[in-house]
Amino acid sequence: MGSASARIATAAVHLVTAAAILLMLARGGEAVSLWLPPPTAGGGGFLGGADRYLTREEHWMNQTLDHFNPTDHRQFKQRYYEFLDYYRAPNGPIFLYICGESTCNGIGNNYLAVVAKKFGAALVSPEHRYYGKSSPFNSLTTENLQFLSSKQALFDLAVFRQYYQETLNAKYNRSGANSSWFVFGGSYAGALSAWFRLKFPHLTCGSLASSGVVLAVYNFTDFDKQIGISAGPECKAALQEITGLVDGQLQSGRNSVKELFGATKLENDGDFLYLLADAAAIAFQYGNPDVLCSPLAEAKKNGTDLVETFASYVKDYYIGKFGASVASYDQQYLKNTTPAESYYGGTKFAVRLHISRWHQKTIVFVPQRSTRGTIWTCAEMFSAKESTLMSL
Ligand SMILES: *[C@@H]1O[C@H](CO)[C@@H](O)[C@H](O)[C@H]1NC(C)=O
Ligand SMILES: *[C@@H]1O[C@H](CO)[C@@H](O)[C@H](O)[C@H]1NC(C)=O
Ligand SMILES: *[C@@H]1O[C@H](CO)[C@@H](O)[C@H](O)[C@H]1NC(C)=O
Ligand SMILES: *[C@@H]1O[C@H](CO)[C@@H](O)[C@H](O)[C@H]1NC(C)=O
Ligand SMILES: *[C@@H]1O[C@H](CO)[C@@H](O)[C@H](O)[C@H]1NC(C)=O
Repeated sequence: MGSASARIATAAVHLVTAAAILLMLARGGEAVSLWLPPPTAGGGGFLGGADRYLTREEHWMNQTLDHFNPTDHRQFKQRYYEFLDYYRAPNGPIFLYICGESTCNGIGNNYLAVVAKKFGAALVSPEHRYYGKSSPFNSLTTENLQFLSSKQALFDLAVFRQYYQETLNAKYNRSGANSSWFVFGGSYAGALSAWFRLKFPHLTCGSLASSGVVLAVYNFTDFDKQIGISAGPECKAALQEITGLVDGQLQSGRNSVKELFGATKLENDGDFLYLLADAAAIAFQYGNPDVLCSPLAEAKKNGTDLVETFASYVKDYYIGKFGASVASYDQQYLKNTTPAESYYGGTKFAVRLHISRWHQKTIVFVPQRSTRGTIWTCAEMFSAKESTLMSL
């Protein structure tokens, strides 16, 4: 495996020029779209709301901990899944579904499965390092987090691709054969999918980047502008009015407004406001504007308290149906180095670059469902210093 990484690394050096044209920075406002389906939905990721898995049977490979230090031979166990029922052996293509910044529970029975069936493809899906059961360390100390980066993750994928190809070749008594590989991913994993194709063009035939977050915009107010447009003038005005009212209550020191939302746990006002902003945005981002705008319009007409109406939406829909958790907005999560295993990848979740939502006072960095775990990933994705990510 060491020599496989070395080969990949050597090949990568030649790609620097091509890769350098890639803008490394992700859309700040994309935070919301990194949302996972609620726990009850069973995962499966993008390309359709899967409520079942094709397989949840775990496989393991030995992955290189540090792809950029040839003297460090440490390895960790990376989990992956394979589904071969549709595979037209031995010449069918291989679809690699990239799992992103959360626990990877299996291969979802989703639209990608439909396409795999049509093309006689093998489906494989490795879990992202540091998430789920693919954590190199038990404790998320700063020291231990140094190998968490999208750069390392891309090389994980390259090593996995070679490893799995060899495994499959062995299964079919072939040697040195190369299948047609396609990579797929959504959101952060969508960015990985695009970057993988750019960085290792010889390892894939193609890549699909769904909502790939490859362009970061500092202070990305356009995201909220679009939310406002999607809401329409009436609903937008109601949301702005609510913002003003909540703001006023917070400023007058009335923490009871948090009570209304069942969010007294969120001591930091920025965390609380981010919850509210996210809750509103989600209705539009996931195509259910009426679930928010209808009650607001009605409340406006019949004189019901707007903030209370919005609070009902947040509690019943965003938290109740959608599956968001209030605690996940608490930035104290960042301090936790031994997160409990949970649906959200042991709570190691992306720190969101969140400078602006529809509320201008939202604080700059807000962790969500998060520990310090993904600071590295995000620092790398977002910071200017790391904008040279692809120039290895
Ligand atoms: C991973 O490495 C361990 C220890 O070197 C070895 O026992 C195991 O067989 C390896 N697993 C795979 C899947 O190669
Ligand atoms: C591969 O070779 C082994 C040993 O020669 C044989 O038992 C097996 O059936 C072969 N597998 C395939 C898929 O041809
Ligand atoms: C398969 O791909 C690898 C990696 O690009 C390459 O080294 C090898 O020559 C290829 N094999 C064939 C038979 O084309
Ligand atoms: C973000 O952009 C808005 C609108 O242009 C501006 O009012 C605000 O001051 C900016 N905030 C930061 C942190 O740059
Ligand atoms: C007014 O509208 C709100 C929001 O839809 C609703 O919950 C409430 O029951 C309505 N009240 C009356 C008196 O119709």
